[in-house]
Amino acid sequence: MNLVLMGLPGAGKGTQAEKIIAEYNIPQISTGDMFRQAIANKTSLGLKAKSYMDEGELVPDEVTNGIVKERLAESDTKDGFLLDGFPRTLDQAKALDDMLQDLDKKLDAVIEIQVPEEVLVDRLSGRFICRNCGATYHKIFNPPKVEGTCDRCGGHDFYQRDDDKPETVRNRIKVNVKNSEPILTHYDKKGLLRSIDGNREIDEVFTEIQQILAK
Ligand code: AP5
Ligand code: ZN
Repeated sequence: MNLVLMGLPGAGKGTQAEKIIAEYNIPQISTGDMFRQAIANKTSLGLKAKSYMDEGELVPDEVTNGIVKERLAESDTKDGFLLDGFPRTLDQAKALDDMLQDLDKKLDAVIEIQVPEEVLVDRLSGRFICRNCGATYHKIFNPPKVEGTCDRCGGHDFYQRDDDKPETVRNRIKVNVKNSEPILTHYDKKGLLRSIDGNREIDEVFTEIQQILAK
């Protein structure tokens, strides 16, 4: 299954991606995670991406398209993949069409998680992440079962993302609102777009995704 997961910052892409990849046994390709990894490893990609991410701006298309193209050519995507946070501009969507054509692959669905903007700020300001395994939590909406212990790996070390500061969050939302409309239209015309209400319990959102993918 070849999938794209869309949604504004904080819509729950990472949270749902974790469930989707476990259920359908496909790799997650998150451009945000790839950039954060590159920054942590101090690679030249990380150096390029950091200043944009710190401001909540998009990393330039040619950089982003390049890493996705390389990643999609890897062998673990042969039975499917989940793109999380890509494409984020119409140019990226068109570049993805070309990449998939070259690889003789097709998208099965583009799932858009819709959440009102005012909810996104609350979600991002309360988010924390396990440093060991990357599992994402929220201090009110989605805390670990045992306080201070990661459900998935048992780790005790959590962090908040640098770009979850309120000013940066507001700019991330603004930048993504502006860019997402043409992408949604692009996929709607192709008959691939499935928009769902993401302002519900995490498990309810996942149940709807499963129903969509079962069709
Ligand atoms: P990226 O890492 O992709 O971040 P984002 O799109 O801003 O999305 P987030 O990861 O913040 O949110 P999410 O939707 O995954 O929400 P989550 O599940 O964590 O991108 C970061 C930066 O990298 C960009 O700003 C840009 O600079 C760069 N970049 C990345 N891709 C790029 C591209 N293609 N082109 C150019 N630049 C790019 O959930 C959020 C919180 O809410 C969590 O605490 C969670 O527990 C909670 N939550 C989730 N679901 C629910 C629910 N249903 N109810 C209540 N709480 C919930
Ligand atoms: Zn963990």
